[in-house]
Amino acid sequence: MSINPGKFVLERQLQLWQAVSMYNLKIYTMSLRIGDDAPNFKAQTTEGEIDFHQWLGNSWGILYSHPADYTPVCTTELGRTAQLKEDFAKRKTKVLAVSVDDLDSHFGWVKDINETQNCNVDFPIIADTDKNVATLYQMIHPNASTSATVRSVYFISPDKKVQAIITYPASTGRNFTEILRVVDSLKLTAEHNVATPVDWKVGQDVIIPPAVKQEEVESKYPKGHRVIKPYLRYTPQPDK
Ligand code: BEZ
Repeated sequence: MSINPGKFVLERQLQLWQAVSMYNLKIYTMSLRIGDDAPNFKAQTTEGEIDFHQWLGNSWGILYSHPADYTPVCTTELGRTAQLKEDFAKRKTKVLAVSVDDLDSHFGWVKDINETQNCNVDFPIIADTDKNVATLYQMIHPNASTSATVRSVYFISPDKKVQAIITYPASTGRNFTEILRVVDSLKLTAEHNVATPVDWKVGQDVIIPPAVKQEEVESKYPKGHRVIKPYLRYTPQPDK
């Protein structure tokens, strides 16, 4: 029996192609969820090249996407981010914006944002022209648009884990009071065994998780507690 080397090479190529296709399919369809590692990347930004994990260091991070430069809703969102610089700094939280336009476009747009929103944008905006970050973080939702990102917000803890994700369509500007409130809740609940109730704001009572046995409550929550139902118990915010 004669061996056909051409057939062998073709079969091998086909196997490799199938393996690569499966790998790509997995990357594109795998969704990023709470508790997952936040993928690292290197990117060109308006503040120079960054390695995402290095840039975060020991800070909390917010990575959020914008459908395009020179668009009205995004202009107001980036302006608000700049205006809230002190609020993010107080929370030791770094903010990184993503837009798939290039650096020249970003620099021109930043001038407009500063002028129209009366601010100074000095946080990095990624020029994600190859859509690397948008793809890693699934910021393009093909049934909304095949090319523009939706408004994704990823909250990332200092150990580089995804802690919360919120997503809006391009037509709905995000609420930055809510974004700061989520950071406050994430930081508090990372440090103390509590949960935050509906519309919670810093300083208000928090919830004792149901897993905590009633006989342990007094010693674990020395500031006191209120029992509304056996599963609904409040305690003052532990770090206030
Ligand atoms: C905006 O940022 O203003 C915007 C972007 C895409 C669609 C609609 C609005």
